[in-house]
Amino acid sequence: MTENFSVKLEEAKYYTPEVRCREQSWMGNYNKTYQAFLADPDGFWDNVARELEWFQPWSRVKEWDYPYARWFLNGKLNITHNCLDRHAHNQRRNKVALMWRGETEDEERIYTYRQLFQAVCRFANGLKSLGVGKGDRVCIYMPVVPEQVIAMLACARIGAVHSVVFGGFGVNALNQRIRGTNAKVVITADVTYRRGRAIPLKNIVEEAVVNAPSVERIVVLRRDTDKPVELHPEMEVDYYDLVDGESRECPAEPMDAEDPLFILYTSGTTGAPKGIVHACGGYTVGTYYTTKHVFDIRDDDIYWCTADPGWITGHSYGIYGPLLNGATCLIAEATPDYPTPGTWWDLIEEYGVTIFYTAPTAIRMFMRVGEEWPNRYNLSSLRILGSVGEPLNPEAFEWFYHTIGKDRCPIVDTWWQTETGMHMLTTMIGEPMRPGFVGRPIPGVVADVVNRQGKPVPPGTGGLLVIKEPWPSMMRTVWGDDERYRKYWETIPGCYTAADLAVKDEDGYIMVIGRADDLIVVAGHNIGTAEVESALVSHDAVAEAAVIGKPDPLKGNTIKAFVILRDGQQPGEKLKKDLIYHVRMTLGPIAIPSEIDFVQSLPKTRSGKIMRRVLKAQEMGMDPGDISTLEE
Ligand code: WT7
Repeated sequence: MTENFSVKLEEAKYYTPEVRCREQSWMGNYNKTYQAFLADPDGFWDNVARELEWFQPWSRVKEWDYPYARWFLNGKLNITHNCLDRHAHNQRRNKVALMWRGETEDEERIYTYRQLFQAVCRFANGLKSLGVGKGDRVCIYMPVVPEQVIAMLACARIGAVHSVVFGGFGVNALNQRIRGTNAKVVITADVTYRRGRAIPLKNIVEEAVVNAPSVERIVVLRRDTDKPVELHPEMEVDYYDLVDGESRECPAEPMDAEDPLFILYTSGTTGAPKGIVHACGGYTVGTYYTTKHVFDIRDDDIYWCTADPGWITGHSYGIYGPLLNGATCLIAEATPDYPTPGTWWDLIEEYGVTIFYTAPTAIRMFMRVGEEWPNRYNLSSLRILGSVGEPLNPEAFEWFYHTIGKDRCPIVDTWWQTETGMHMLTTMIGEPMRPGFVGRPIPGVVADVVNRQGKPVPPGTGGLLVIKEPWPSMMRTVWGDDERYRKYWETIPGCYTAADLAVKDEDGYIMVIGRADDLIVVAGHNIGTAEVESALVSHDAVAEAAVIGKPDPLKGNTIKAFVILRDGQQPGEKLKKDLIYHVRMTLGPIAIPSEIDFVQSLPKTRSGKIMRRVLKAQEMGMDPGDISTLEE
């Protein structure tokens, strides 16, 4: 895709929900707040940071040494002190912090702020007893269970840097991520459940730690407590044994604002996935602020973010942001259509969810199965709806607004990335919403749509979405590869380039169109073409492979692979199945191609780079554009 396109803007259609007018929201008037931010950006963030508790105040709000920013210099804090102690030691101590629902109805656990505080302290002490300390990396590879959250918070409590790996990834992906950070400890569980099936996570970890010499210990949570798990005592320790007898208090490590808080891997255009590094101070301030204002969160809200905590959405808006705000959060190990397409609506009715944050891919799946499913449930508790991960197309917006929100609830379509850590663009509560458009930069963020020279493009003309000023929760580096960090700031000098194509309307509302680089967003997950290709090529039968994303009404995109076989290999259905199985085993189920074509050659540049856009144009029956670099 290139940015040479335009969009007709005539048919503007706005919705202004009545639910809460802008003067009643935490933010108040958007334009006024945005102007106040522009007038004094540092003063603006200084005020936000003061709403949190610091062990030592900062001496300066920010230092901008392009492309490196430092925020809240010399400030000392701990995110878990702000997520837990701040509430557990005052009037919110008996308020519910976390409600967890497993795949089956009889699996439920509820933690008050006091209980969550104690569980985190216990496990933090357990980690300390294994020799984990400030700066050590800990890999968390777990199902969606309360202990996944507890493990993250326990690491943060003692200053260990967590690197959560989504439980759907396979052996190679996990191994690569463990080695990437030199993790000292891996935290896992015996099994995870997916659609009623038990998937043995621990076995995957056992394979993934071969060739990962940094790993000293593996902590195993027994979910299936009926079945004893065999533990290898040299390496493996039982979660319950580890916390047994540990104190319910563990002092929060005072962290420098710029100390790393966590690493989270995201797929890159080429090469290995990137370990995005977030810093303690800025991340805390950014996620606290955006959760408060974008969701306009109140003490009586029941907040549900459907993302697995293993993704950035789960980190920022499933756990840290809502807990920083003292909210009651639901987490659920729930697939949207298992056991029925009513499962999620049932959860909303049962728990009285008021703020519901999900992804377009789920919304489109629900549209397809029909409104009879949500209509069977009482969804009147809902107050605010949110979307993230890929463009929320107007049809999906309308369906979400009418069928789920019953024309009452504002929709916040939030644009951001693993790299940005926090929401960057949305339509603040109370502002008119334009279907198909995410909206404008939130106060605190300076964004625009520009051409390759960095000049803002007129309304209706396509361009690249850029961020023009640093923000507190921006990534600090790519773990072990700072060169790749600098690249984000080099495409357009002076700006952070998100690699998304976008278009603006006359009111400054931004429509995000899709990725300009070689990432495929499948069901809201970023998948690098390079990762899938190298997984395919690692199969004995494959000589070369290229993959592209194909637009899909349900998943946003699906993966199509073009494969050149080695001599003597027989193409056919059997081999297709083998290849799919191979990708599933190496990268996990989210990365498997939906289609495989066996081909004799691939379009390449003279320098040998596969021209995926040519394959894509062929596939879509479109003009491939400039093919001057194409090899004969
Ligand atoms: C990419 C970031 C951070 C959320 C989860 C994905 C796409 C994200 C939107 C949106 C259109 C969106 C972009 C972005 N994206 N939100 N509201 N509208 N596109 O995080 O894996 O880092 O992916 O997701 O293409 O660059 P991620």
